[in-house]
Amino acid sequence: MVTRLILVGLLSLCSPSSSQECNRALVENMDFPGSDIISLYSPDVKHCQLLCTQHPSCSFFTFVCDWTTDAWHFYCYLKSTPSGQPNTQTPMQGATSGFSLKACNLDQKPCLSEVYQNVDFPGADYRFLFTADSEECQRVCTQDPACQFFTFAQENFSDKKIRYKCHLKFSWNVARTPIIVRKAGATSGFSHKVHQTEYFDKECQRKLFPSTDIPGNDFLSLPAVSPEHCQILCSAHPRCTYFTHNRNSFSCYLKNNPDEMVTSATEAGTSGLPHRSCQLDGNWATVAHEGIDFKGSDIRDEAADNAEACQRKCTEDPHCQFYTYVTSWHRCFLKRVITMPAPPKVTKVTNASSGFSLKNCF
Ligand SMILES: *[C@@H]1O[C@H](CO)[C@@H](O)[C@H](O)[C@H]1NC(C)=O
Repeated sequence: MVTRLILVGLLSLCSPSSSQECNRALVENMDFPGSDIISLYSPDVKHCQLLCTQHPSCSFFTFVCDWTTDAWHFYCYLKSTPSGQPNTQTPMQGATSGFSLKACNLDQKPCLSEVYQNVDFPGADYRFLFTADSEECQRVCTQDPACQFFTFAQENFSDKKIRYKCHLKFSWNVARTPIIVRKAGATSGFSHKVHQTEYFDKECQRKLFPSTDIPGNDFLSLPAVSPEHCQILCSAHPRCTYFTHNRNSFSCYLKNNPDEMVTSATEAGTSGLPHRSCQLDGNWATVAHEGIDFKGSDIRDEAADNAEACQRKCTEDPHCQFYTYVTSWHRCFLKRVITMPAPPKVTKVTNASSGFSLKNCF
């Protein structure tokens, strides 16, 4: 009896834990080498772990602070293997490794309350002001709907001209579909749960101008499946004053010119204005787009009888933001992208402090 118990114990110790299990363990001074999907920047191991959790295919990660060319950078290496487990583990001073928390039932909008001393989040600026201290800078960021993170130059910052300067910064907090292609037999759409994020009394007026181009003033072009989807992207971006969507190329052109708006007639374009300070209606997200593939960004795929069943799977899965159903295979592909605040770069800079909006903390 005793030997059997020991044997069972040994078996459970040695059996590979499935990638479906919630594993919050962090392994310090350890690298999980290879199997990289992408390297992102991240200020600490907790944030890096959340990036891995929000990335569609990341199952584990290594976080490390490295000297490159001119500065210390904080890197978050997102990794994946078919088993969901690292192939090897190598001791490495200063590196911390761990696993995706996809199986842990986490809040999809994490509260990131830490303020990082001597850290800069360079880039992604959209607004500047001078504030008494970093707490005030963080409060302004929290109250500005577009602000996701900030950097504050402290009173002893080396460049005297920008002491007390508060830099408000943006990263995408709504689902983008990175690749949209036409594909016979494919149907794509969105989770019905995403995008119902703002809390205003007033319903948004959908201001679209059919068969209209607003030429010029582009600052960003990204894929959108419909003018309504393009409008969501424009509404999320602090610099977007209006947009044009091309239904042939699925291009969404975000434009910035707060002074004037000059329109012209076009066949393939729909233009429009962003929503501001109003409650989005989610109806646009319930449309199923036939003959469209939202390529890549797969979390996983499952059998499903039809596109409606696939859409329901996506809406029920807290991680799924959009889906593609392939009729001939009866396969449902559940998809997502990172929507938490993600600075484009994270470096060590003396007497600067950086942090995140506290919107998700109340
Ligand atoms: C940072 O602040 C300290 C304390 O005021 C000061 O001694 C130091 O020179 C500053 N360093 C830089 C690089 O700004």
